Amino acid sequence: MRKPTITAREFAKRRNKLMGMLGSDAIAIVPSSSEKIRNRDVEYPFRQNSDFLYLTNFNEPDAIAVFVPEREQGEYILFCRDKDPTAEQWTGIRAGIDGVVEHFGADDSFPIDDIDDILPGLMEGRKSVYYSMGNDHHFDQQVMDWVGTIKKKIRNGAHSPHEFISLDLFLHEMRLFKSNAEIRMMKYAALTSIDAHHAAMKNCKPKMWEYEIDALYSYEFCRRGMSHAYTSIVGGGKNACILHYIENNQKLNKGDLLLIDAGAEYQGYASDITRTFPISGKFSDAQKQLYQVVLDAQKAAIKEAKSGNTWNQPHIAALNTITHGLLELGILKRDNDKSTNENIKQLIKDEAYKPYFMHKTGHWLGLDVHDVGDYKVDEEWRLLETGMVLTVEPGIYISPSDDVDKKWWNIGIRIEDDVVITKEGNEVISDSLIKEIDEIEAWMQS
Ligand code: GLY
Ligand code: MN
Ligand code: MN
Repeated sequence: MRKPTITAREFAKRRNKLMGMLGSDAIAIVPSSSEKIRNRDVEYPFRQNSDFLYLTNFNEPDAIAVFVPEREQGEYILFCRDKDPTAEQWTGIRAGIDGVVEHFGADDSFPIDDIDDILPGLMEGRKSVYYSMGNDHHFDQQVMDWVGTIKKKIRNGAHSPHEFISLDLFLHEMRLFKSNAEIRMMKYAALTSIDAHHAAMKNCKPKMWEYEIDALYSYEFCRRGMSHAYTSIVGGGKNACILHYIENNQKLNKGDLLLIDAGAEYQGYASDITRTFPISGKFSDAQKQLYQVVLDAQKAAIKEAKSGNTWNQPHIAALNTITHGLLELGILKRDNDKSTNENIKQLIKDEAYKPYFMHKTGHWLGLDVHDVGDYKVDEEWRLLETGMVLTVEPGIYISPSDDVDKKWWNIGIRIEDDVVITKEGNEVISDSLIKEIDEIEAWMQS
């Protein structure tokens, strides 16, 4: 697959669509991320704010995008770091204020250091200010300071905005629906994760360490110029039962399962994929039985991920299959006076599955791994629609407990794929990654 990209035209289309929704009496302000110190002079790798990236394609820190619909001198204004040869020698080349007009489609640009002098003037006379509030205390304060600057000029006839609205309302709804180009980006990220998962299965041997397997993912992602969409979970044996296990520093034992939740990120777009496989290359009977329940649950959930169904329908399908499976295996207890269906209904009502399946079946996926977008509209689960992308990731995790036969203890299994809702139903973009028991065993032993 050739490296996909998103055209400058698509970025401009997004900005125009947003400004069309805001209207001519509004202004929207979107800050970039800033660099974060790890310790003393060392910074964390820079990751752009996804809202900012979605609208600008500009990957520098210390920038603020301002959208002023129908402003004659230009609607899209980018404040950014100006060129500075001395600073650039240390920290890298900057686009500069001319560069963002030439290469990033800004109508107008100013040095970020001048923003306190210029932004109040852009806000003045606009009724509403749209921004993402409550995420960054410093930025919230900055917006209020700019309003304060205008208020000081009220006796000179200045009008300060009087409505402050969350930009998320419009912007996150836009981000929820992926364009064809975005889906190509996500497929490309998924393909890399798939190669890495296949490599992990192939190379895994008893007595290796979790971090040795973790390193295979970093290698596969890095050599394609990609990064991690999130910290990988590489959990052998009982560690697979810890949902957010990221230490990845234990030895892998023959006879245990290994759960790996790892996804590459390509130009901001995430993949999020989990597979669970036997460290020795062969499932035990107990592992096989539980694995098949999770796999059946995942397939049942994927079937329900289609236009017109609600967000929650895949989860309900997974719950039904898992509860049924746990009942059949004797992990959930049967009331012999009731039919199997009645038992399942009651167990779901009582949330009896919760000690073993304690998370939801998925989430939106996009520029953020847990992507933006509401799950409910007017208190009801929203309908799935073409262009939405979600994960489907049921699991079963059995920690030691007197309630459960010892043979199930410390088995943790999750199977996670990335699913695009299409006109016809759905497309599983991580589908070429094997997940059937016999496929995994054959691949690991080949
Ligand atoms: N990798 C994070 C998740 O599956 O939600
Ligand atoms: Mn995941
Ligand atoms: Mn996930």
